[in-house]
Amino acid sequence: MPTPLPPITPKHLYPIADDCTADKAYQWINQGAHLLWSGDYHNGIQLLSALKRRTDKKRKQQSGPINAEAFHRYRMFQSQKASLLNRLLIKVGPEYALDLKRAPDLRGACEAAFGELSNETLIPLRMVQGALSAYAWQNKGVHIPALPEPIHVRYGVFSPVRGEYLNLIQTAKLPANTQCAFDIGTGSGVIAAILAQRGVPEIIATDTSEDAILCAAENFARLKLQHAIRLVQADLFPPQPALADLIVCNPPWIPARPTSPIEAAVYDPGNEMLERFLSQVTQHLNPNGQVWLVMSNLAELIQLRPPNFIPYLAEKHGLRVIERLDTKPGHAKSKNTNDPLYEARAREVTSLWKLIPSAGATAKL
Ligand SMILES: C[S@@+](CC[C@H](N)C(=O)[O-])C[C@H]1O[C@@H](n2cnc3c(N)ncnc32)[C@H](O)[C@@H]1O
Repeated sequence: MPTPLPPITPKHLYPIADDCTADKAYQWINQGAHLLWSGDYHNGIQLLSALKRRTDKKRKQQSGPINAEAFHRYRMFQSQKASLLNRLLIKVGPEYALDLKRAPDLRGACEAAFGELSNETLIPLRMVQGALSAYAWQNKGVHIPALPEPIHVRYGVFSPVRGEYLNLIQTAKLPANTQCAFDIGTGSGVIAAILAQRGVPEIIATDTSEDAILCAAENFARLKLQHAIRLVQADLFPPQPALADLIVCNPPWIPARPTSPIEAAVYDPGNEMLERFLSQVTQHLNPNGQVWLVMSNLAELIQLRPPNFIPYLAEKHGLRVIERLDTKPGHAKSKNTNDPLYEARAREVTSLWKLIPSAGATAKL
């Protein structure tokens, strides 16, 4: 489901165009005004970038490793920055018609992101830019080495664009005679698709998000994997079948509050989903079954979790680690020295934790 646009009813709306300087615009948005852009579309995008740079300069530089307090300050700054930049608006007509010089066609991207539009409305230029970029990615797809076709990701669904962990899913040794697997929190369906491609004959993929279920269904159809994978919109485990030989989960990995519905795939306040998953998973495993938990250590590096959190949590819920496979993220953010989380991202490791029930454990280390 698209996320409807928030209604915008500015107290002060100043029309501005190509002759407005970035300094002036920055001053006005900081004074609480909303600006209505009526100049050339691309000049508007440049103005938005100039406002971003000016906002970023205001952020207090963090010295040394980032800790939980600095991380929360950074998130607060990001959210204030978004609401400040959202004061640069454009006016669109029904079906997202945009009457600006060099304006792109917004309809497909904005309908995918925000739904259909029948009235004239104001939209933050920043949100339009986000919708266009997501739509371009959705159409292009993400290349996954283990799959014959790219994975296409709908607006609001987690994208496996930083997909080093998928190599672990592709190469980790499957439990002997795996007949049925669950992919919990399937998102775009990428993990279920890799398992099917590896020959697991029956896979049940779940997600709470309706968008994720639709997106995964489209990907399975494109990959012609519908025969092997069934989708269920469910909180954690499918009702039927009750048991699997392998249960894979790449849950949201940062224990902090999401600030928008899109962030719900990344943020898990208080480790709520992770704890519920680990506390229930053994009830869903066949004898000799395994749990594969994908988890980055970023939250530990920024001190949002204590060290060795996963083994601790596994033991708390009657599981034990039989193997850990690691990979280092190679995405652009891990190399961007201007990113406030750079120091932690440069040391980030994502692991596939193989877990089995402690009692009656049969697998070998
Ligand atoms: C980090 S994303 C992983 C998506 C996909 N498995 C991948 O590896 O690209 C986490 C996913 O878990 C889903 N999710 C969050 N809480 C859930 C729950 N309680 N039950 C099922 N899925 C959930 C989110 O909607 C999101 O799609």
